[in-house]
Amino acid sequence: MSGSTIIPWVVGNWKMNPMQANTQQLVQQFKQLLQQEAISAQDCHIGVAPTTLTLSTVQTQLADAVTPIVTVAQDVSRIAGTGAYTGEVSAELLKDSGIEFVLIGHSERREIFGDSPAILIEKMKNALVAGLTVIYCVGETLAQREAGQAEQVVLQQICDVAAIVNGDQWQNIIIAYEPIWAIGTGKTASPADAQAMHAHIREGLLQITPAGKDLAILYGGSVKPENAEELAACPDINGALVGGASLDAASFYKIAQAFAKTK
Ligand code: PGA
Repeated sequence: MSGSTIIPWVVGNWKMNPMQANTQQLVQQFKQLLQQEAISAQDCHIGVAPTTLTLSTVQTQLADAVTPIVTVAQDVSRIAGTGAYTGEVSAELLKDSGIEFVLIGHSERREIFGDSPAILIEKMKNALVAGLTVIYCVGETLAQREAGQAEQVVLQQICDVAAIVNGDQWQNIIIAYEPIWAIGTGKTASPADAQAMHAHIREGLLQITPAGKDLAILYGGSVKPENAEELAACPDINGALVGGASLDAASFYKIAQAFAKTK
């Protein structure tokens, strides 16, 4: 037991996966596992982030799960409201569809789709104003870590958006620390390294806002059933953002169970 009063979050990031039939099967299998042995929302909050295309169907399918599971959008437009913006989905449209959570700043968005700090600020602002809860992702590259810049890079990513977050809005923010070199590579940060970074993030947040003590800081990057307990035992790791392993219902369930039992 870590002694932390923060209820952990375990969130599956399905990225650009899977096809319709497999999506339904994945949700069904996960619900069945919860039916066999429920995970109490007092012990662990659970979320899944399907593709935009399946957000509403997954949400409907999850509505009768024995444990509440939130549906999370993987991204949001930098444009607010409605209008002539082909291909975009705004924070208001998400909210209007009953989607209350969104990932912002995932390294794949930053690196592949050019989400710069300026764009992320706009996305963050729109999401918070619309009343969404944001899972804000931060993380360094291998080169930055090897150059001893990891902490500085991660804190800068937090400072980039902190200026536009009002006092009360901090309670609608979850931080996900995802070292880029650990995403989808099978390499996980050692629990000691991850804990050190999480403690650093916590300190940084506390300098920005007193709400920093209650913010969940999730770890992401090759989280799997085999390493979940060890990560969950770290006092400042308040959950996991899970990519690959969340596409397997049993693995995702075991990770959520590890956090629920260890915290
Ligand atoms: P991974 O992805 O678990 O497959 O490493 C994590 C993420 O990108 O959120």
